[in-house]
Amino acid sequence: MLNKNQWRCLLAVGMSVLASAAVHAGEVEVLHYWTSGGEAQSVQELKAMMTARGHSWKDFTVAGGAGGNAMASLKQRVLDGNAPAAALIKGPAIQEWAELNALTNLDAMALFDKWDDFLPKVVADQMKYKGHYVAVPVNVHRVNWLWANSAVLKKAGVTVMPTNWDEFFVAADKIRAAGFVPLAHGGQDWQDFTVFETVALGVGGPEFYDKALLKLDKAAIGSDAMKKTLETFRRLKTYVDAKAPGRDWNVTTDMVIKGKAGFQFMGDWAKGEFLAAKQMPGKDFICMPAPGTANAYTYNVDSFAMFQLKSWEAQKAQGYLAYVLMGKDFQERFNLRKGSIPVHLNLNMDKFDECAKRSNVDFAATAKAGTLLPSVAHGMALSTAQQTAMRAAVNEFWNTDSMSVGQAIGRLQTLNAAVAPKLAHVAEKK
Ligand code: GAL
Repeated sequence: MLNKNQWRCLLAVGMSVLASAAVHAGEVEVLHYWTSGGEAQSVQELKAMMTARGHSWKDFTVAGGAGGNAMASLKQRVLDGNAPAAALIKGPAIQEWAELNALTNLDAMALFDKWDDFLPKVVADQMKYKGHYVAVPVNVHRVNWLWANSAVLKKAGVTVMPTNWDEFFVAADKIRAAGFVPLAHGGQDWQDFTVFETVALGVGGPEFYDKALLKLDKAAIGSDAMKKTLETFRRLKTYVDAKAPGRDWNVTTDMVIKGKAGFQFMGDWAKGEFLAAKQMPGKDFICMPAPGTANAYTYNVDSFAMFQLKSWEAQKAQGYLAYVLMGKDFQERFNLRKGSIPVHLNLNMDKFDECAKRSNVDFAATAKAGTLLPSVAHGMALSTAQQTAMRAAVNEFWNTDSMSVGQAIGRLQTLNAAVAPKLAHVAEKK
């Protein structure tokens, strides 16, 4: 781990490199799962900035939406005593890795670069373990979006975007009648979970979401709002095509891009795909908060946790990566492609499109109103074990038509018990 003076020296090197020519430094190996068209373009921005400064970038890419496969590979690498420099890890999982003493302390750099001054507190807190920075945030994704193909809506006679669930089903019926798939969905557990949390927020509201999905309150899970959530969620399945099972999220977004489907519920990484396909928001496609969720915001912050490394060269490259990630230049370039918004407070949003501008305004407004909520499906709230258990219950309900709403509720009510063992199997072998 670098001490304060080493960080200062590293930062001094970083600054002078910015001002002059590139120097040779270490290799930085980064675990991520950004393999779709829009994601690959976003990560390319980062690679280019690192290599321009003389660092060599090594991809440790594990395909699979939302990172399920990537996390499994990471555990194996750490068990083998061969951690990468950085890994795309989010939310409470950051704390779980820090608890195992696997991450490096970034406080000196954070102090030097004044991270606390420009990061929203809700984001900064997630990057810290016991008050110390161990990870670096790159963006804020909003999850509770509904995406639509403008031409499909027009052909189906849907003139306005639905703002509640009744309107959604009326629009979906029209789209079906016009010969399109109403709802593009990929039947993978994390995609089911993404739709589920959005429906819960839209049907039950922010307070219900907080109690049932974040606090795992048994009464809230057993409430009428949860019954209605599960019924609405199940009804959505009747608007999905038969080829949904196993389909990747970006292939699913492509159905909307190509005009085969009308709608998709997905976080705004989907916008990265529309943009990569040269589509224009407001013209070719529409972004709207999902029905009933306009006054709330489910956030998902992508962040890189930094692992402890042995060699000084490798530590230097890692430190430089952290420095670049927090720079306004990188945050702007990356987020223009990724679909998310920069994590910096008060960053100029002029170059961003209407969806991002709305996200930026709503992030601040919902933070004030107390309706800015962590996405459960994207690992922002629960322990890894709780999240895994909830995802499995939701996935089973989606796939098992014979499972009653009551049975699903019973299953969800057992979740409080699903706490340990987190990443214990890694700890045992360390
Ligand atoms: C999210 C992640 C996004 C995007 C998406 C699909 O969990 O935060 O950056 O990669 O999964 O893989």
